[in-house]
Amino acid sequence: MLDRLDQQPADALLALIKMYEADTRPDKIDLGVGVYRTADGGTPVFRAIKQAEKRLVDTQGTKAYLGPEGDMGFVRALMPHVLGDAGNRDGRIDGMQTPGGTGAVRLAVALAQKAGVRNLLMGVPSWPNHKQILDDCGVTTVTFDHACEDGSADMGALREALGKAGKDDAVLLHGACHNPTGVDYTNEQWDEIADLLGETGALPIIDLAYQGLGDGMEEDAYGVRKVIASVPEALVAYSCDKNFGLYRDRVGALYVMGANADETVRIMSNAASLARANWSMPPDHGGASVRLILEDEDLTADWLDELASMRERIGAVRAKLAEAGTAGAVDLTKLGAQKGMFAMLPVSKEQVERLRKDHGVYMAGSGRINVAGLTMGNIDAFVAALADVTG
Ligand SMILES: Cc1ncc(COP(=O)(O)O)c(C=O)c1O
Repeated sequence: MLDRLDQQPADALLALIKMYEADTRPDKIDLGVGVYRTADGGTPVFRAIKQAEKRLVDTQGTKAYLGPEGDMGFVRALMPHVLGDAGNRDGRIDGMQTPGGTGAVRLAVALAQKAGVRNLLMGVPSWPNHKQILDDCGVTTVTFDHACEDGSADMGALREALGKAGKDDAVLLHGACHNPTGVDYTNEQWDEIADLLGETGALPIIDLAYQGLGDGMEEDAYGVRKVIASVPEALVAYSCDKNFGLYRDRVGALYVMGANADETVRIMSNAASLARANWSMPPDHGGASVRLILEDEDLTADWLDELASMRERIGAVRAKLAEAGTAGAVDLTKLGAQKGMFAMLPVSKEQVERLRKDHGVYMAGSGRINVAGLTMGNIDAFVAALADVTG
């Protein structure tokens, strides 16, 4: 039976990692993988996580099952950081832990599908796994352009897409630090989006996977908070894997908001049964570590401090790239105002290949770069390589 399965394409980014590792050039540059890197090229464990993990080892008395909702202490401690201080809005907001942001997106889409969503609107390009999840859940996806050539969000395309949407439709939006373009909505644009969502009744599914890596924890939450204040129902898929550096520990949460407390109880019961059927319950270790940080003022301050230094480094790399102006045919100035770890460069697959072969610069075939893969020491070499292949 299993012989009927077709070969699926290998994950291009994982193949890129292998090629990068095999490359012996000392000045090779890895802009492919989507993890934060320090100026030394490392992805260290956060100081606060190390502390919390020590505490966890010393104090955890059992590893007995928790249930499909995971560690609710974690979910509740995280909530004000994500959704603000407005509380649970008279019982309208609840949440559960998920295996990473991926699990949260999966659960959000599965809930929409179970509720009979007609079309799921999504700006493109997007994180490639969005499309895989939507297809796997069997929802009908309608795409619109996310970004304009000038490096701003394509509000015209979003307006048009939402103009055709109604309360049977949903729209998937990146909360901050758009992957792969780095093109975020401004606060004014979020205000308009919140109004449009209120008018059309389309269900917002907001994917917030990089809070704190754009302008700050509060600043990056503007959109999600504005939307939940303006609409009756929303789903928020959250990842702690970037802003706590917990990638492989798979830490995420899904927050749901219903039109009233009874509806929220029903949504949560469906989320719990879908989680049970998918992964039964999320892994505990990472979520418990985040909870220990958020329950401790000093650890929280240290975590925010380390997150701020990451954000500042990303900002400094972006500023230096923008300062370079152009590299051959590529205008780098736009990168300065964009947010988060990613940016899209207008390069062809052939140019990407030449960057790798001739210059040891590794990046996704789509043209996406992880700006955190650059350092003050190699930006000039990168810009020169880009000029060489596109000039
Ligand atoms: C936009 C977006 N959403 C969600 C995720 C999922 O993150 P994770 O499952 O690693 O927490 C990612 C990770 O790359 C992402 O870029």
